[in-house]
Amino acid sequence: MRIVLLGAPGSGKGTQATLLKNRLNVPHVSTGELLRAAVAAGTPLGKQAKSVMESGSLVSDEIVLGMLEERLCLDDVQRGFILDGYPRNLAQARALDTLLDRLKQPVDKTLQLDVAENTLLARLAGRAKAEGRADDNPQSVAHRLHVYQQQTAPVIDYYQSHGTLVRVPGEGSVEEILERIVAALG
Ligand code: AP5
Repeated sequence: MRIVLLGAPGSGKGTQATLLKNRLNVPHVSTGELLRAAVAAGTPLGKQAKSVMESGSLVSDEIVLGMLEERLCLDDVQRGFILDGYPRNLAQARALDTLLDRLKQPVDKTLQLDVAENTLLARLAGRAKAEGRADDNPQSVAHRLHVYQQQTAPVIDYYQSHGTLVRVPGEGSVEEILERIVAALG
């Protein structure tokens, strides 16, 4: 099964994908995680992406698509995947369709996690304290939410018009949300 997981920063994409991958026995592909790994390893791509990520802006479409394409060509994703963090704008949504057409791996379902802004802010503030992620400071969080509204939210309509979108309420316990997602997948 090939799933795209959409939602604002802090909506629980990473948390749910980590649990869902065990249920569905498919890998979790997170562009944020791939980029953070490149930053931590100090690769040329990571060096380019570091300050952009810390500010809360989007890394260039070209860099992220190249990185994603490499990941989606590995053997483990041939049985499916849960994609988290991509697409982040309409150009990425179209590029993903083209890439998956070429790989003959069309998306089966797109899940949108709906979470109120005050909950997003509380979760990200909690993670800032617990983990100190570089882009969880108040200024970067505000910018990430703005970028989400301006650039990523239109992607929801894109998938709605393609008929693959399911909206899932993303508030409540982690386990409750997981069960809603599993039910939505049918
Ligand atoms: P990315 O890593 O994708 O970050 P994000 O979208 O901002 O998402 P988060 O990781 O903050 O939130 P999440 O929805 O995964 O929630 P999580 O489960 O972690 O991207 C980071 C950056 O990389 C971007 O800003 C950009 O610079 C770059 N980037 C990535 N992809 C890109 C792309 N395609 N194009 C260009 N640039 C790209 O949960 C958040 C917190 O809430 C955790 O502490 C968790 O424990 C907690 N939590 C989760 N669920 C619950 C719950 N039900 N109850 C209570 N707490 C909960």
